[in-house]
Amino acid sequence: MPVSSQTALRARRSALRAGGLLAAAVLLTVTAACELASPGQPKWNDASAGRSRWGTDPVFTPARASFGQALREFMSSHPTEVAQPFDFSHQIHLGKGVLCTDCHTAVEQGPRAGIPGVNTCMICHSQIATERPLIQQMTKMAEEGRDFSWNRVYAYYPESHVRFEHAPHIRAQVECSTCHGNQQEQTVARRAVNMDMGFCVSCHKEKQASNDCLTCHY
Ligand code: HEC
Ligand code: HEC
Ligand code: HEC
Ligand code: HEC
Ligand code: HEC
Repeated sequence: MPVSSQTALRARRSALRAGGLLAAAVLLTVTAACELASPGQPKWNDASAGRSRWGTDPVFTPARASFGQALREFMSSHPTEVAQPFDFSHQIHLGKGVLCTDCHTAVEQGPRAGIPGVNTCMICHSQIATERPLIQQMTKMAEEGRDFSWNRVYAYYPESHVRFEHAPHIRAQVECSTCHGNQQEQTVARRAVNMDMGFCVSCHKEKQASNDCLTCHY
């Protein structure tokens, strides 16, 4: 090999090594910064701690799909648009007179509304629009015993320790749209309302519902 290209190779190797060192230094700094920014957090190897923002197993891993997601979670912010695995539309269904409770069957009775699985969809789609490609795709999934894995839009992070119940709100005649926006205008659900603590507490104050910390936190 000519000397000039050997030199070039060596230069590139040492540049790579410097890059590696820099990456390690950045990682260490970020780790230290996280520790400083959340001093009250349980340590990653504390077996008595519940689920933490770093995941459920005692190995230090961000366990998030991307650094961006980990960062958003760390900052307790939630994205407005959430990608979904299937081209579902609220607008089409609500326009045809389908009710929220046809799909979110538990919303009036209990804490959770529930997100429909493919078998709930098939109650109608074993008969409705069976010739359409999307419906055929879905029918095939049902036959093969596969289900959608919908991504959550409004879930709180476990470390917020929020306890929410739908039923008392539906009984008190709070509209779905107060908390979720106008679903008629949405295909897949988007985070139309930022339900932070201020949002909950100000209505509870106005309606004289309980504002004890333990009403909403566990
Ligand atoms: C007072 C505010 C409020 C009202 C009113 C409300 N929701 Fe929700 N909804 C929430 C919150 C908060 C969550 C997230 C709860 C969580 O993940 O801990 C949620 C979650 C959901 C979910 C996700 C699945 C689940 O079970 O958590 C669905 C679906 C849903 N709501 C549908 C509805 C429908 C349909 C209505 C009307 C019948 C409705 N919501 C009324 C606040 C509300
Ligand atoms: C209560 C009955 C009912 C349920 C339950 C239901 N659908 Fe539908 N769906 C309909 C009706 C009605 C239409 C409109 C059909 C038309 O355009 O004539 C429709 C249309 C659709 C379309 C549009 C088809 C196209 O290409 O134009 C898709 C996709 C779809 N539904 C998916 C779903 C999925 C996924 C679920 C379950 C999460 C579901 N549906 C649950 C009644 C239902
Ligand atoms: C035909 C079935 C169907 C009907 C009717 C329906 N939904 Fe949904 N809903 C779904 C499916 C499927 C999802 C999961 C995909 C998504 O996030 O859009 C969902 C998701 C949601 C979410 C996001 C939950 C979360 O936190 O991930 C909310 C909020 C919601 N629906 C509210 C409503 C409201 C309010 C109505 C009535 C005005 C309604 N839905 C009617 C099927 C339905
Ligand atoms: C638009 C008004 C409104 C908003 C917004 C609202 N609530 Fe409520 N909530 C009420 C009312 C009214 C009641 C009381 C119903 C009753 O007395 O039975 C209630 C009751 C509750 C209860 C049951 C309390 C009990 O004693 O059983 C919980 C838990 C709760 N809310 C949590 C939340 C959380 C968490 C949020 C924010 C995500 C929220 N609420 C947002 C009006 C609201
Ligand atoms: C009416 C419901 C409600 C009441 C009452 C309430 N909170 Fe909250 N709180 C929430 C919700 C919802 C969030 C989550 C906000 C988010 O993640 O966007 C929250 C978040 C928090 C957080 C931030 C946690 C995080 O995500 O890092 C703290 C701390 C907190 N609450 C403390 C309290 C204390 C202390 C009280 C009593 C004085 C109280 N809360 C009463 C609903 C409530």
